[in-house]
Amino acid sequence: MIRRMLKKTRAKILYGRGFNARGVGGQELDFLMKHIPENKVVMEIGCGFGQNTRRFADKGNMIYAVDPFLPERNLKTLMGENPEYVFNCFIKSIEGRNVLHYDMTSKEALEMYDGIKLDFLFIDGEHTYNALEIDTKWIKHVKKGGLFAFHDCSCEEVNDFLVEHIFPKYKFIGSRFSLFIFRK
Ligand SMILES: C[S@@+](CC[C@H](N)C(=O)[O-])C[C@H]1O[C@@H](n2cnc3c(N)ncnc32)[C@H](O)[C@@H]1O
Repeated sequence: MIRRMLKKTRAKILYGRGFNARGVGGQELDFLMKHIPENKVVMEIGCGFGQNTRRFADKGNMIYAVDPFLPERNLKTLMGENPEYVFNCFIKSIEGRNVLHYDMTSKEALEMYDGIKLDFLFIDGEHTYNALEIDTKWIKHVKKGGLFAFHDCSCEEVNDFLVEHIFPKYKFIGSRFSLFIFRK
């Protein structure tokens, strides 16, 4: 049932081309923003152009933003080959906001993290099974009862990871297209 639901969303996804990420949009974005808290602590793994980093910050949140902006030819990160351009857009987007940028991979950031508990974790970095094994280690930093979300769940490896490791363990809150939210 879960697998069928996730497969259905897969057909609707258009993958990024060049440096153009497939961002969270439309109903996905409305659903995500409805669950983003206010005046709390939010982490985003994989920030891209930073338009959502800014939206999260504009709800009064402190944002931990993890993204190394590395060149990527494998579209599983959905960013393409122009990370400098994306990085510059990100910096402009978060200007003046309460955002702490970890300019490193999710794995590296885990070693540097100050340990503050998260109210919301948004995982939207490298869309591979192996990367999710790392990214989901951040769930231990989410407060009990806090929420965490995944984007691009229609990517096959993300789909498989959720089916095997997340659905059996955490409460499923809901989804819109390729955006899935869970409670710790
Ligand atoms: C699809 S984009 C993120 C889009 C963004 N969350 C949004 O809502 O617009 C994916 C991002 O993940 C970043 N990324 C790739 N591997 C990563 C890793 N290991 N750790 C953190 N970020 C990573 C890429 O640099 C890219 O900016």
